[in-house]
Amino acid sequence: MEHIHITTVNKKEQYLEVYHQLRTILDGEKDIIARMATICGAIKEAFNFYWIGFYRVDGDELVVGPYIGTLACLRIKKGKGVCGTAWKNEQTIIVKNVDEFPGHIACSSESKSEIVVPVFKDNQIIAVLDIDSTEYNTFDEIDKEGLERIVTLV
Ligand code: SME
Repeated sequence: MEHIHITTVNKKEQYLEVYHQLRTILDGEKDIIARMATICGAIKEAFNFYWIGFYRVDGDELVVGPYIGTLACLRIKKGKGVCGTAWKNEQTIIVKNVDEFPGHIACSSESKSEIVVPVFKDNQIIAVLDIDSTEYNTFDEIDKEGLERIVTLV
């Protein structure tokens, strides 16, 4: 198994590097759980965020998929929490301070900021990628852009 080696310090370049390494690692792998799990692992190695994981669409709910982090809630209704809202609105949501997001679902009191990125397949959302940080204001447009590119590899 190859390892993710990050040699750059610039966040934008780091995301690109992770993207290109994942493209190589995932080449030929058809299993979506294996792909999601490997994407979580690569993001963890590169950025060491507190919680990184996928929620998959299952009817009118999201159900937890591969993740790295502390125990998380299993199911989230469409429109609920940051994840269910990103799904409903079909766009990435950056939450600088989770206490200021109405309806935020606190799986861990450690989480202070969050980003949720929808995963599209054939113009449909099939999952969301959720990343939590123990610091406020962790995520910005560079994370959004980098992660939106990475989730095209699901
Ligand atoms: N905070 C999320 C719930 C999932 S956990 O952060 C892992 C939300 O509000 O949707």
